[in-house]
Amino acid sequence: MVRYGRELLLNTAYYIGPNGTKGKYLGNKMNCSNCHLKAGTVPYGLNFFSTHARYPQYRGRENKVMTLPERVNNCVERPHNGIPMPLDSKEMVAIVSYMRWLSANVAIGEHVPGDGAAELQYPARAADPKKGAEIYTKHCASCHGANGEGQFNGDSSTYIYPPLWGNFAFECGSSMHRVLKMARFVKANMPHLKASWDKPFLTDVEAIDVSAFVVDDRIHPRPKKEKAESYPNIRNKPIDYDMGPYADPFTEDEHKFGPYQPIIDYHKAHNLPVVF
Ligand code: HEC
Ligand code: HEC
Repeated sequence: MVRYGRELLLNTAYYIGPNGTKGKYLGNKMNCSNCHLKAGTVPYGLNFFSTHARYPQYRGRENKVMTLPERVNNCVERPHNGIPMPLDSKEMVAIVSYMRWLSANVAIGEHVPGDGAAELQYPARAADPKKGAEIYTKHCASCHGANGEGQFNGDSSTYIYPPLWGNFAFECGSSMHRVLKMARFVKANMPHLKASWDKPFLTDVEAIDVSAFVVDDRIHPRPKKEKAESYPNIRNKPIDYDMGPYADPFTEDEHKFGPYQPIIDYHKAHNLPVVF
């Protein structure tokens, strides 16, 4: 089951994609490993080093305690724009077994070095999608495509280079749709094969600008889902979450594009959580 779980993370579309051989759950042909790099084993690459040890866990977004299989389904529903897998399906049990195996030496509730996201310094100005467009053309388009569409493999069953926007990319409710969340991932991992956590390629502000360009819904449409039920307690919304209402006076645009430091300072001054 551990081996099958790893296999599922690497070749997700083949097994549970829109034409999946073991069930049709995903709404797109991306694989978990497109984001959780190398089946969740890369430092600062959305890895699963300590994941199993930290669930069940309180989740601000749902305002309840969630189990790991339920958390897996969040990603099936949001970045993969799909429908939840049965919690007791062989595929779900395999994915969780693999995560259990990865976290086997981690104490319950603990983190390990590198299991989070890369740290960023925030620019004093708002993120600039126009500057981001130039960075995109120079450093991203060769793989992800001029229109963010990515590049299919030979039989179009999945991607060599996954899409960043458009109908088949991660949907609006995904964490990757948040500027800072994406920028942290990009800083440590993109451009692919050039950047690594200990040798980033882009500067922090470049990573923020290019992420702002990718997730700018005014120019780049992508699947949308009803998000109304997210964060019933609005105090828990992440700083860069782009859908109000908020527990602070900042606008949706300011939350999405920044400048972020004034929002962080406001939260600290008013005893509001600073969530990313
Ligand atoms: C488009 C990118 C993307 C894809 C594809 C994706 N995820 Fe995620 N996933 C994320 C991001 C970003 C987070 C971190 C969210 C956060 O920090 O709150 C995450 C978090 C998780 C977590 C919680 C990790 C933890 O330590 O708390 C699990 C479990 C997970 N994903 C499983 C999966 C599985 C299984 C798949 C494939 C079915 C998948 N994800 C596909 C982006 C993605
Ligand atoms: C050399 C090709 C290449 C370049 C250049 C590149 N990427 Fe990627 N990118 C990839 C591949 C391949 C993956 C999936 C990794 C995997 O499956 O192991 C990926 C994954 C991603 C993901 C998560 C998956 C998704 O589709 O949402 C994001 C976000 C991303 N890249 C952003 C960028 C940005 C921004 C740039 C420019 C700064 C960039 N990439 C440059 C190849 C590339």
